[in-house]
Amino acid sequence: MTLSLTAGIANLGALNTPLLVVALPNGGTLDAELTSLDGTLGGVLSRSLQRRDFRGGRDETLHFAGAANGPGRVLLIGLGKATDRVSSLRRAGAVAARQGGRMGAGSLAFYAGAIDVREGEALAVGLSAGAWEYTDTKTPPPEEDRRASLTSAQIVGPDVAIIEQAIASGSAIAEGHSLARTLGMMPGNLCTPEHLANTARDIAARHSLGVTVLGRSEMEALGMGSLLCVAQGTPEDPKLIALEYEGGTKGAAPVVLVGKGLCFDSGGISIKPAQGMEWMKFDMCGAAGVLGAMEAIARLKLPVNVVGLVGSTTNMPSGTAFKPGDVVKSMSGKFIEIINTDAEGRLVLADVLTYASRYKPAAVVDAATLTGACVIALGHSATGVLGNNADLVKEVLGAGTRAGEPGWELPMWDDYKELIKSDVADIRNSGGRPAGTISAALFLAEFAGDFPWVHLDVAGTAYTEADIVTVPRGPTGVPVGTFVEFVRGRAG
Ligand code: BES
Ligand code: MN
Ligand code: ZN
Repeated sequence: MTLSLTAGIANLGALNTPLLVVALPNGGTLDAELTSLDGTLGGVLSRSLQRRDFRGGRDETLHFAGAANGPGRVLLIGLGKATDRVSSLRRAGAVAARQGGRMGAGSLAFYAGAIDVREGEALAVGLSAGAWEYTDTKTPPPEEDRRASLTSAQIVGPDVAIIEQAIASGSAIAEGHSLARTLGMMPGNLCTPEHLANTARDIAARHSLGVTVLGRSEMEALGMGSLLCVAQGTPEDPKLIALEYEGGTKGAAPVVLVGKGLCFDSGGISIKPAQGMEWMKFDMCGAAGVLGAMEAIARLKLPVNVVGLVGSTTNMPSGTAFKPGDVVKSMSGKFIEIINTDAEGRLVLADVLTYASRYKPAAVVDAATLTGACVIALGHSATGVLGNNADLVKEVLGAGTRAGEPGWELPMWDDYKELIKSDVADIRNSGGRPAGTISAALFLAEFAGDFPWVHLDVAGTAYTEADIVTVPRGPTGVPVGTFVEFVRGRAG
């Protein structure tokens, strides 16, 4: 369930909430509203600031019990050096909502003084992100040990109309994030290509989008030998999913979002080590990002034509699986030599990118947990960004920054193409370890028709193997925010 958000006028001392969260920047002081709350609380706020028990640092929190009346508890949360209030409020919202969830508050009110629409939207996204949890496959503890999940939050401030506007767009984006994270967290035996297709059908039905789902036989008819070779090792039907949203001028060239949807990546015959292999259920986070973004874009009713494409299967070793040395013919007609069956994402995306050409796209942006090399290069703090068009790269980088999902460009120099030359085919699917993220992107570029295209390698950013304060172990929601901001940027 996603967090239910409402707007309220700040009258903090009288607020009847189990938990009042007060956000303050580094070195922040009490405004008139907080001074009055301080009175109700017998001066604990001013004393804490005076003693510097609380300094407003990023992620810093201080928790008090409330007085007999008014808020049941008060949580101070630091915004850090408030250079960018949008991102610090997004972050503070997530930290506060997680804390509220842990204490079983059930609902909270959040006060950060006066906020504008962008700040309020980011706060709404952050609060929802912090309240997100995946409980579908866990037996709940006995009643007496249970703590209430955080199900509602009120953003309070001087201007309710602005907060309401912020909540409207923020909760649309939050729904997209939440959907993407739920799909990501779902185990591979439940989140199958079929499940992704059904999710797309559900989005289409709720928002009147066009939806097409191709299975193995339809893809065979289209000559998708690149995608299908990956699907050769699994009896599960692979799916190519197309969601068509027409928010813009009828017939205008759409933006196409493409996602890698490997519901599990064992590596295939080039099998991965057992240690940590379970993380490869997250190999569909690009696809989840596309579906989440389509959900958000439809809710926001953005005036842009957008197509979401997902290529989905499971990479498994078996007697029928493809193997190193094989040569397959892609839908584009290009022959691909398989060097490593674990370089499967690019094989799936190759045919999806060729398929994208039929939309005569204005721009194509794909997202994929494509290379371990990207995690080595950029860690978990930046998405790898590569493309064939400098303006589009810049546009996507800007969208990522606005969404709090920073990216960093890597070069696509011709020199690197040497890495993927083949003796027997037009191209090979692996260039080995050097510049692994770049050679993967150069492989994709061969299939990115004649449209402006950007590739997002989200291997390090779409999920986290450690609790990172705002997000527990698991999916982060990346690249939903980047996709939504990118499309919103095109709405003018
Ligand atoms: N899904 C993996 C990439 C990955 C690795 C994502 C770790 C997240 C964390 C991808 O399919 C893969 O296995 N790539 C290979 C490519 C290599 C064989 C050229 C890799 O990165 O090792
Ligand atoms: Mn792989
Ligand atoms: Zn993979």
